[in-house]
Amino acid sequence: MARHLQHSSALLAAVLAGVVALSFPAPSTAKLALDYYQKTCPRVVDIVTQVVTNKQIANPTTGAGTLRLFFHDCFVGGCDASILISSGAFSRAERDADINLSLPGDGFDVVVRAKTQLEIQCPGVVSCADILALATRDLVTMLGGPFYHVRLGRKDALASKADTVEGHLPRPNMTVSQMISIFAAKGFTVQEMVALSGAHTVGFSHCKEFANRIYNYNNGGPNAFDPSISPEFAKALQKACANYINDATISTFNDIMTPGKFDNMYFKNLAGGLGLLASDQILMSDWRTRPFVELYAANNTAFFNDFVHAMEKLSVYGVKTGRNGEVRRRCDNFNN
Ligand code: HEM
Ligand SMILES: *[C@@H]1O[C@H](CO)[C@@H](O)[C@H](O)[C@H]1NC(C)=O
Ligand SMILES: *[C@@H]1O[C@H](CO)[C@@H](O)[C@H](O)[C@H]1NC(C)=O
Ligand SMILES: *[C@@H]1O[C@H](CO)[C@@H](O)[C@H](O)[C@H]1NC(C)=O
Repeated sequence: MARHLQHSSALLAAVLAGVVALSFPAPSTAKLALDYYQKTCPRVVDIVTQVVTNKQIANPTTGAGTLRLFFHDCFVGGCDASILISSGAFSRAERDADINLSLPGDGFDVVVRAKTQLEIQCPGVVSCADILALATRDLVTMLGGPFYHVRLGRKDALASKADTVEGHLPRPNMTVSQMISIFAAKGFTVQEMVALSGAHTVGFSHCKEFANRIYNYNNGGPNAFDPSISPEFAKALQKACANYINDATISTFNDIMTPGKFDNMYFKNLAGGLGLLASDQILMSDWRTRPFVELYAANNTAFFNDFVHAMEKLSVYGVKTGRNGEVRRRCDNFNN
């Protein structure tokens, strides 16, 4: 009963978020510009690229970790670096919402490193939100994904609260309808949702996120697995995750075929029952999403084009400009 209530309040929140979004004017992105820092910090793009490149070479998990961090930041109140704030003694920040499940430290670290360099070159000028947006773009490109333009001038959020997260982020146990309404509430189409899900062509998921698909599925016995998973894949996952209850750090590649490469293999995998999360695999079975999965599986150019447009849209979602934000001195703390 409690579960049911929680679930319906999340849905309600998603629906209300949509209503609220429609009843206010769209946030102004007019002030964003590619050359926003031309006079105040002309080398910003190069500095971020250099820091990001070094970090990705030293820690190859940075790319996927940062991409997920950026998605979570943007979907909860806009791309405003609210996710980078540390919880204080009296407040639980956005990054400590339960869903953050090991949002990896690499994504935080790469932003902090770039910020440190930028504070030396042009103190107090470049926002953490802009750094995260640029770093994400550079990392996607480094992983083999498409280049896209990031307009700059975001301000950093003045608030960050764990309890604002619920209802804004998709979960792997959601139905396609629930996921569609989460994305629709933020103005994203079904096609854009599928394109963005292609981000799961890189990175990892922890066993807990898909354990119900590979163990005791539908109470069918300890090794019963979801029939939409390829049997070989299910058995390999059962083995890899055998100790996951004792060791919560065990994780597996989202895309077992080309795990570190940003390509359309994620979509090809779905056709063969190689989707890892339930929310991945159901994109293949639902009539609303399947045509896009098939399109992207067959045509990498189409995937890249649509991913670029969706990322450009995501990158300006709910951004704060002018007095609605600040340029933080430290990315993990408000200025005051
Ligand atoms: C469509 C609904 C989505 C659901 C249900 C979902 C859920 C998840 C879950 C449960 C994980 C595993 C987290 C862990 O175990 O540490 C994950 C990983 C990831 N997600 Fe999503 N996600 C969705 C969409 C997206 C989008 C739109 C993006 C980015 C544009 C994204 C980027 C990533 C990345 C890159 C990872 C790997 C992170 C890493 O390796 O550290 N996801 N996602
Ligand atoms: C999905 O799982 C979360 C916790 O992991 C739970 O709170 C929620 O009720 C579940 N939602 C659905 C649709 O089953
Ligand atoms: C995620 O939240 C947990 C508490 O819910 C916290 O212990 C952990 O440090 C957070 N992870 C990150 C990367 O902030
Ligand atoms: C793949 O998609 C691109 C972009 O939409 C299109 O121009 C191209 O014709 C498509 N290729 C094939 C083989 O359908």
